[in-house]
Amino acid sequence: MIKFINESTDYLKSKGFDNPEVGIILGTGLGQLLDHVEIIAEASYNHIPNFPTATVEFHKGKLIYGNLEGKKVVIMQGRFHVYEGYSLQDVTFPVRIMEKLGIKTLLVSNAAGAINLNFKKGELMLIDDHINLQGSSPLAFKGVSELGERFTDMSAPYDAEINSKFESIAQDNSINLHKGVYASVVGPQLETRAEYRMLKIIGADAVGMSTVPEIIVANHLNLKVAAVSVLTDECDPDNLKPVDIGEIMAMAAKAEPELITLFKKLIKSL
Ligand code: HPA
Repeated sequence: MIKFINESTDYLKSKGFDNPEVGIILGTGLGQLLDHVEIIAEASYNHIPNFPTATVEFHKGKLIYGNLEGKKVVIMQGRFHVYEGYSLQDVTFPVRIMEKLGIKTLLVSNAAGAINLNFKKGELMLIDDHINLQGSSPLAFKGVSELGERFTDMSAPYDAEINSKFESIAQDNSINLHKGVYASVVGPQLETRAEYRMLKIIGADAVGMSTVPEIIVANHLNLKVAAVSVLTDECDPDNLKPVDIGEIMAMAAKAEPELITLFKKLIKSL
């Protein structure tokens, strides 16, 4: 793995990815932040040595380097999911690359269903904690201790200081930012009514198919991390309608301007 990481990182450095401070992973339907970035370099995932290749059509699959609010950032436009057939090590490989390039902070966004029915679609949720329901760990491989502590601490995986900054930015900008627990499932099928009931019982406020693997690896690498979910649907087991992916995408687009405000002002404050 170390050899692969060095090869990918050397390639990106040769393309001009020079010492980014912040890494950003943009979730499904959440690409507009890029309109605010002064782009300096970019690399398609399928050109980066050892990178998993992008498959899902929603994703353009690029790593972007540039300036955002005076900070050097590296942005993943589109991420990898276990439901596309990638391993958890594949899904999190880009986090290891961004860390090797120099980032100290990782910001993550995703689209998620609201399990807590006080939260409505089109609103945002700051992830305060998570439940890993993907059946394995991105740290469950032989050479993991060469890259960091195998028994990575998870007592506070999300950075308290960044989260309180997010909350005050939300308040100052009249953004309704909920806070809660995100559960990650494999997908790609949506949940049954019984699964939504279970998720509520075990303490989830939102459910999605990403983020937790990246957060685990970011903690393995001692990065500061924070993540925000865009709530795209309400998972009410007693009034469940068939899933409408078009509506999920439309809701992600609707909430996106608020997410962009949060991310831009947070990065400025770092
Ligand atoms: N379940 C799982 N993933 C999701 C959902 C959901 O309801 N909405 C958006 N991503």
